[in-house]
Amino acid sequence: MKKNFKFANRVLKDFKKESPSQINIKKKYDFKKYLTMHENLFNNLKFPLELFKNKKVIDLGCGTGEVDFVLNKFGAKLECLDFNGKSIDYAKKLKKKLKLKNINFRTASIEEYKVKKKHFDISTSFGVITHVYDQEGLFKKLVNSTKKKGYIILGFVEDAGLIQRLLHRAIIRKLSNKSEKEIYVYAKKLFREHLDRSMKFGMRTYRGIINDYLVNQAYYGLSSTKLHQWAQKYNLEFYSSSPEISLPLRIDPGIKDQKIKSTKLKIMLNSIFRLRSIFSQQSDEEVYNNLITAQNNKLDKDIESFINLTTHILQKSNNNASKKELKKLNEVKKKIKENIKFSFKNLEKNIASNFFPMSNEIFEIIKEINNKKISFRSIKKKINFLFKGYNGLGTSYYIFKKN
Ligand SMILES: C[S@@+](CC[C@H](N)C(=O)[O-])C[C@H]1O[C@@H](n2cnc3c(N)ncnc32)[C@H](O)[C@@H]1O
Repeated sequence: MKKNFKFANRVLKDFKKESPSQINIKKKYDFKKYLTMHENLFNNLKFPLELFKNKKVIDLGCGTGEVDFVLNKFGAKLECLDFNGKSIDYAKKLKKKLKLKNINFRTASIEEYKVKKKHFDISTSFGVITHVYDQEGLFKKLVNSTKKKGYIILGFVEDAGLIQRLLHRAIIRKLSNKSEKEIYVYAKKLFREHLDRSMKFGMRTYRGIINDYLVNQAYYGLSSTKLHQWAQKYNLEFYSSSPEISLPLRIDPGIKDQKIKSTKLKIMLNSIFRLRSIFSQQSDEEVYNNLITAQNNKLDKDIESFINLTTHILQKSNNNASKKELKKLNEVKKKIKENIKFSFKNLEKNIASNFFPMSNEIFEIIKEINNKKISFRSIKKKINFLFKGYNGLGTSYYIFKKN
């Protein structure tokens, strides 16, 4: 418990400098755009907006409240909490300005929040679980707050998708000598494309984004594989996810979605989608949409090892990989390559075209981070594919129904 609070205090200290969630809502038009983004999201999640109408909703880690204003527009009555008083003050002011009712904001930490058992129709938390020490504890609070037949909606960064940002952080740690000013300078010099995309799609500010994942160091992705295990443990029914993880095989388009029955295939598909969240580019969309039968047993295990080992190295405070770890990483990378060749004979070229150079680059960057003589120039030479285009971005959304 003590560790929990210590961790939370560290995060709070950095988030007080710059609220990580704040959206550029200056004009009515901006809010409309943000609203449309969320209408599209719930459309993708096959969650009709009517399901929010007059429903009691709790939001854990609400930040500056913009998402809550959207849910309120859909008809929800909300209780929202966040431990950053600065964000809550801002949310309260914006609520007044937008003349909204039925939203209650309060400053409190998730650790302090005493669950109102089975009180809410919908329990949500967006982009918060990555910043808390006890991730399962947060999830359990959402589950326990929800009424039977209610919904739990979680937005989070997939741990695989975070690998890119952990690489950024490791590089910045080595180059900036812990000077915050230098963090901002190097981030803009090296990861401009990533920052621009986050600004464009997340409608956030440079300072907010950089503070969120480079100044604040407590950032842990969540594996959807683990999330599925929790869902099973707490007797939840999977409702939907975005991105959707399903087979597109439809013999008759009039027939509703086919459920994948084989557990092995489900696990494999999930891991392949996790691999996608590290490397995939828009040009890969067709490939991933056409994955049909990948019955190779080992591929998912190797993908999980690759993600876990990379994450493990990048979550160390010094980011130094041991010789043994480097050897293992290289081996597992080769095994995935062989497995992909074997499993997707017809699609090999497409998947391989990004996986091979990008996984090599991860390996090379990790080696360079180990190098005592690392410099801006030496690292820049190693960066060719990884921090460009669509890879490594994005939040995953999952909805579960409580039985
Ligand atoms: C990336 S922001 C997301 C905010 C908002 N949910 C959104 O989607 O815009 C993460 C938020 O989690 C809050 N947070 C992190 N750890 C927390 C904790 N232990 N208790 C309460 N809030 C927390 C932060 O203050 C921050 O506002």
